[in-house]
Amino acid sequence: MNLKIAKLPGDGIGPEVVEQAVKAVDAVCAKFGHTVSYKFAKVGACAIEEYGNAFPEETFQACMDSDAVLFGAVGDPKYDNDPTAKVRPEQGLLAMRKQLGLYANLRPVETFKTLVHKSPLKEELVDGADFMCVRELTGGMYFGEKGRRDNGDTAFDTNLYHRFEVERILRKAYELARLRRKHLTVVDKANVLESSRLWRQVAQEMAPQYPDVETDFMYVDNAAMKLITWPKFFDVLVTENTFGDILTDEASVISGSMGLLASASVGEHTGVYEPIHGSYPQAAGKNIANPLATILSAAMMFEYAFGLMEEGKVIREAVAASIEAGYVTEDLANGGECHSTSEVGDWVAAYISK
Ligand code: IPM
Ligand code: MN
Repeated sequence: MNLKIAKLPGDGIGPEVVEQAVKAVDAVCAKFGHTVSYKFAKVGACAIEEYGNAFPEETFQACMDSDAVLFGAVGDPKYDNDPTAKVRPEQGLLAMRKQLGLYANLRPVETFKTLVHKSPLKEELVDGADFMCVRELTGGMYFGEKGRRDNGDTAFDTNLYHRFEVERILRKAYELARLRRKHLTVVDKANVLESSRLWRQVAQEMAPQYPDVETDFMYVDNAAMKLITWPKFFDVLVTENTFGDILTDEASVISGSMGLLASASVGEHTGVYEPIHGSYPQAAGKNIANPLATILSAAMMFEYAFGLMEEGKVIREAVAASIEAGYVTEDLANGGECHSTSEVGDWVAAYISK
């Protein structure tokens, strides 16, 4: 196959971790006889500096002309404490999601046997946890009408959802549940929010179309508790944009490190594959960040964008082997020896090439 990948490293540790994923992609392509070409483009703070726009037209075109987007992170502390900033790096990510129609964000949470002790949660609670968070990504408060009134002293964000948006994300979640343990948990706040009542209504209407899947409903506050008190309860969890943002950061502690959580954003146009950890500016340029989440995102890219399951599996095995061998960055090193971002990337690529 000829794979066309848009490479969008973004800001902070993005460039370092994406480079390691590229090594893994190249190694797996060499092994399986695929050719691969990369189109580099800017997004986030680095794009603001060059274009005055966090998601410039050139970047959008590079994504549209590719089969998959390998993305790092956006964000720069200089914008974080300036609520008046007119352009922000995060707008680049939101524009990318919206313009590419990426309404489904898939965030798998898995545990690695040798790392269960790294989780702040009790080993017996997290050992064996394996679920998929399906976060709606182009609706809700993130994109609803927002603004200020009363000379700026009143602010609002509208949590707007249309039926078609709810239907398509639930369909995606049901399809994923069918490929897994056939248990779907719809997370909402239907006891308070009208938008949540629409979600619940639509889910109740759709459930009979999936009789093989067990559907249950859970309020988001309860889900936040259940995620850390009984994570093994979940198989597929589906929820709206804002709840999904919060719950997936929470869920990342189950794996023991945020540096392990991969994601795929899919929908109408080219899908985006990215780690969920963000730009981690304190570590930028230090060659210490954990590249495994980005490498695992590349595995998701092979599986979801190209339908190349075996290639994805080979990458996953290499990541598992590096963890098993203790060849890891400082966040995962058990007080013992740790390795740099690029060393871990080289190790994983070499393992794939074996
Ligand atoms: C995420 C991030 C983004 C979000 C930010 C960077 C805009 O936190 O992908 O979870 O809130 O969606
Ligand atoms: Mn987030």
